[in-house]
Amino acid sequence: MKDLFRSPARLPLIAPSILSADFGRIAEECRAVLDAGADLLHLDVMDGHFVPNLTMGPDMCAAVRRHFPDVFIDVHLMITDPAAFVEPFMKAGANHLTFHVEAVGEPAAARQIVQAIHARGGSAGIAINPPTDVQRVLPLIEFFDLVLVMSVNPGYSGQSFIAPALDKTRTIGSRLREDQRLEMDGGIGPREAVDCLAAGCDVIAAASSIFKTGDYRAAIDALRHAAPAASNN
Ligand code: DX5
Ligand code: ZN
Repeated sequence: MKDLFRSPARLPLIAPSILSADFGRIAEECRAVLDAGADLLHLDVMDGHFVPNLTMGPDMCAAVRRHFPDVFIDVHLMITDPAAFVEPFMKAGANHLTFHVEAVGEPAAARQIVQAIHARGGSAGIAINPPTDVQRVLPLIEFFDLVLVMSVNPGYSGQSFIAPALDKTRTIGSRLREDQRLEMDGGIGPREAVDCLAAGCDVIAAASSIFKTGDYRAAIDALRHAAPAASNN
């Protein structure tokens, strides 16, 4: 499972964000989505500074790793100082760390963080928020294993999909190599997944459209097999 983003077994990959899981039953919830066909788990880390919310830290990652030794853990760092948390999250068993282009000043700083992640055996992603110009990330994408296009302003699950983000997905997608993944995150249910996949996205992160339903398998299947006909339902 270690290289899931670099050599995926199947595409698209469906990445449930445990942010909408029942935190009182987190291991059970992780087990349920994995049994329902999830390819990996997406952990949303917020610091109350880069975004106006606090969620989980390295200890949650370590707990998930303890309970699920083989699962691929995709950590989405919505934090002001990603460099400071590479080591704690890699030690906690993360496979992949995505940090935000808005959180890094110079391109050289982003490259140093990528090197730190790679040196610890992880893969690295760069995320871009809806208001940020795509030009900000284009010069950097070649150094990353994954680009994450946010389709909500980060901070909370359960928000509405921001459709103009799809332009960014198309622009970035046309510039990626075959071994690079393109993830979208925020407000994605089956209807939005149709457009995400058509725009070139191959990893879908979703919290509420999975965990807020009664049937995780049906929800995951609906995202994975989203096709234009489904959008007419
Ligand atoms: C948003 C997080 C997302 C979020 C998705 O700040 O990065 O991963 O949990 O939640 P939904 O799918 O409910 O929009
Ligand atoms: Zn996320």
